Amino acid sequence: MNARFVTSDVSLMGAVDWDRTLFDALIPLPEGTTYNAYLVRGSEKTVLVDAVDPVKLDVLMAQLDAVDHLDYLVAQHAEQDHSGSIPAVLARYPEAVVVTNAKAKELLQELLDIPADRFRIVADGETLSLGDKTLRFIYLPWVHWPETMGTYLEEEHILFSCDFFGSHRAQSGIFAEKDLVMLGAKRYYAEIMMPFRGFILKNLDKLAGLQIDMICPSHGPVYKDPTYIMDAYRDWAGSPPHNKVVIPFISMHGSTLKMVDHLTASLADRGVEVERFDLTTSDIGSIAMSLVDAATIVIGTPAVLTGPHPKTIEIAYLAGVLRPKTQFVSIIGSYGWGQRIVDVLGGLIAPLKAEVLTPVLAKGDPRAADMEAIDVLAETIVAKHREAGLQ
Ligand code: FEO
Repeated sequence: MNARFVTSDVSLMGAVDWDRTLFDALIPLPEGTTYNAYLVRGSEKTVLVDAVDPVKLDVLMAQLDAVDHLDYLVAQHAEQDHSGSIPAVLARYPEAVVVTNAKAKELLQELLDIPADRFRIVADGETLSLGDKTLRFIYLPWVHWPETMGTYLEEEHILFSCDFFGSHRAQSGIFAEKDLVMLGAKRYYAEIMMPFRGFILKNLDKLAGLQIDMICPSHGPVYKDPTYIMDAYRDWAGSPPHNKVVIPFISMHGSTLKMVDHLTASLADRGVEVERFDLTTSDIGSIAMSLVDAATIVIGTPAVLTGPHPKTIEIAYLAGVLRPKTQFVSIIGSYGWGQRIVDVLGGLIAPLKAEVLTPVLAKGDPRAADMEAIDVLAETIVAKHREAGLQ
């Protein structure tokens, strides 16, 4: 695919990865992804903003056939899906200088062995003249690495935002369509950005003073209307969670499933939205998206030997590191001759800092008393959501 014009002097370079199925060897990519680089041509200087994942280096190199001379390569983020091709670009353009911040320089040298004399360090807010155009560098720490920064093209009011506002969405066109992009954007937020909600809000505030007519992220399509993605980020990161319970569960012989079915019906009867995920088949990206705005998580597990089922350990750990807005957690399930379910899962979900509601564990097949305990749990969840102003 050739470079494509975003405006007359800004081109979208980089590759659409239609076939990638996992990001970070972790999150499924049902819509693929992209690695965007942008070429900005000023009257005196030419700049490449970011590079691409080395798996698509050939695509970037073919696009650069049309570029005789490169003055600067702006490295907004040192992670390899944007930086991994930088050494090859520098080899092709010996005159090019990597423009980045001090922290990114340190990381780029550690990750890619880029020589120290190829860097120019810029401060937060510093500008770089391209002749008739000006780039302003805006540090955006922890969205999602400490060194991440954005780049603002002052004359055209374009923000190159790197991972911030990105989406895992492969498409042939340049620009985002709201109805199509938001699913991939929320999946992206859930995995990459959610642990840094406080920093997201600070960085949104930092950008609030800028006139932004277009956002060019380093993954996914370009936003001609930045409003809805910025509003979505503020909502995902800052609004109270919804009156919703997420139930990731697994059942070996049907006992835990009976309890999950009962809890689902009991919550639904009380007006609580339920999203449940059978961990034998579920896409963990979908679970992460569901966690973005759920007030409560209830994990359903049988005992395997003396502990919870290993697949629930994975999801409890993931919830702990993604740190969603969850306010309440609980555990339900069944066991045969012994269990340490609450001990093990409780430790993994502790980083959520959520209130733990009394777990319900049945010995063997759940009896009437166990189902009554499930109803009590549902009633408690309703009361907690109500106290928190969520229902
Ligand atoms: Fe798209 Fe943090 O790399």
